[in-house]
Parts: sequence; C-alpha cells; structure tokens
Amino acid sequence: MKREEILALLRERGDYVSGQELCERFGVSRTAVWKAVNLLKKEGFKIEAVQNRGYRLCGPCGIFGRAEINSRLDTRWAGRNLLFHQKVDSTNNLAKLEAEKGAPHGTVIVADTQTAGRGRRGRYWLSPPGVSLYFTIVLRPQLQPGQASMLTLVMADAVGRAIERVTGLKAGIKWPNDIVVNGRKVCGILTEMSAERDCIHYAVIGVGTNILHQDFPPETAVKATSLEDEGDAPVSRSYLLAEILTEFEADYGKFISAGDLTPLLSGYEGMLVNRDAEVKVLDPKGEFTGVARGITPQGELKVEKEGQIVLVYAGEVSVRGICGYV
Ligand code: BTN
Repeated sequence: MKREEILALLRERGDYVSGQELCERFGVSRTAVWKAVNLLKKEGFKIEAVQNRGYRLCGPCGIFGRAEINSRLDTRWAGRNLLFHQKVDSTNNLAKLEAEKGAPHGTVIVADTQTAGRGRRGRYWLSPPGVSLYFTIVLRPQLQPGQASMLTLVMADAVGRAIERVTGLKAGIKWPNDIVVNGRKVCGILTEMSAERDCIHYAVIGVGTNILHQDFPPETAVKATSLEDEGDAPVSRSYLLAEILTEFEADYGKFISAGDLTPLLSGYEGMLVNRDAEVKVLDPKGEFTGVARGITPQGELKVEKEGQIVLVYAGEVSVRGICGYV
C-alpha cells in the first residue's frame, strides 16, 4: 500500500474511513495504516483520527508534493515516474539530466520554484514558489527530429482542455504554444530535444502555468494573467497537473498512431484564438500581415495573404495580433 492510495480514498470519501476498512482494502495491518497516516500528517496533511469512526481528511488540501500528486494521478505512463523538488534551477534542465541518465518515457519533474526558469528564445521565466505550476515531461518518441515541434502543439491542446475542465474558464491557444484566458497568457511551453540527424534520443516538454496573481515583470505584465485572477475559485496545482497529464497521455497516443496532428486538429483549432483573425507574422526574413485560417496536420499556421495560403513554421517566427498580443 502506498500512502497516496490512503490519501486518494480519504479525499474521495470526504468522511471518516475506519481503520478496519483501510486494512482490508489495502491488505495491511493496523500499524501499517497508522504509520502511513502519520507520514501524511508529517507532510502537512490534516488528518483527523477519531476512535470508533476512523480517519478523515480535513479541509481543502493545498499541499503540493509527490504524495498529493500521485494520489490524483490515473495515467498509464505519463507521470508514473514522478520526481518532485522544492527548488531547482529549471525543470527542463533537470529533465535533460534525468533523460541522459536513462529516465523512462513519461518521467515528470515538478518543482515548487525555479531559480533559472527558461522561456522560448532564451527568455527568463519568472518562477516564484507557491503560485505557479512548473513541470517537465521526458519523452522518447519514435519521430524524426523535424517532427518534434508538433509535440508542443500536442501539449498545448492538453493544457488548454485541462484548464477548462479544472477551472471552468474558456481557454484559448495562441499558436503555437501559449495558453491564454480572456486574451492574456496563463501558460507557456518550452520543448527541447537531443537528437541525431534521423532520430530523437529524447524530447522534454516544459510547462509553466500561472495559478495565483504574481508581480509579473513590466515587459510581460500587460499580456500575462493567472488562473485565479480570471476565475473565482482556488486552483489546486496537483489536480491541474494530474488533469494535464491525463489529457496529454490521450493526445500523445492519438498523435503517435496517426503520425501527425490530424486527430487533434478540430480540438486545437476550436481553441485557436488567432483563427480567422488578422495577424502579424514576425519572420526574421520579413514581416507580413494576413488572416490566420487554422493549422496543418504538421502544425504549421495557415495564414491567408493576398488570397494565397502561406504556411508559417514555428521556430524563429512569432505571431501577434494586429493590435497587440493576441
Ligand atoms: C514560453 O512561453 O516562453 C515558455 C515558458 C516555459 C516555462 C516552463 S516552466 C517549467 C519548464 N522549465 C523551464 O525552465 N521552462 C519551462
């Protein structure tokens, strides 16, 4: 029996569960149950023990740690090997180190805070403790290196849907990989890989989601927001992470079977905030404006320019709304 199994049962029941029931359910002694409950209490969970009634989990659970996340996880491989840290430089850095050491497909690194969180194009990703969800998943996909950029879109689709399920808010995707709520960014995704010319050794996808209000740096303050600012209820980081991993596992399976994004197209395009909107394509080879018309099965943005469809690849290009971020 793992203590997260006890935690999951207490949470699900929302009432007292007798020691006898816990012993029978997990096939262990009363002492083993008592020890597991004590360990959970030491980790900060408020568990009441009442004679003749049993154990009860008290209050909403804001603890963020391995046991809490595991107790909510119902995936086959995503996050089954879960490494939790209070503080790291960057979960992407650690994920790469773990991948080099042989970490299995689906390994997830989570941290409460990052001292050197990284965004796309070498930008800094502010990562204070207690207010955001920072994690990275290690993948060992049988893909060509040129197909890896599609993984970012698979994750964006999963995060968008998980946010909607957990918060009830309407999530949007700003191609290729920003998740927005009410026109402001709540989440960014950074995919990196180690590859040879025709094979990927591993890919890591890092996700940073703003949960509580933060003092965003001035350059991002106008376009950033957090889930609790936009919604009206507290958001559990563990619950959100478990839902993202569940969605991602399902999406990744469909993507790998199809070999491209075809099975995810309608879901992704349904959330695409730039769809049928005028966009400015900031291409180092030359800026242009057009109307975004959706994505191809390979993840390129289709932009209509003077009656022709131009395919825009992620990478060096970024896309802005005509009057601002979206
Ligand atoms: C972006 O929008 O520029 C991408 C931001 C990605 C941030 C996440 S936080 C977890 C993981 N670790 C990092 O250092 N970066 C990613």
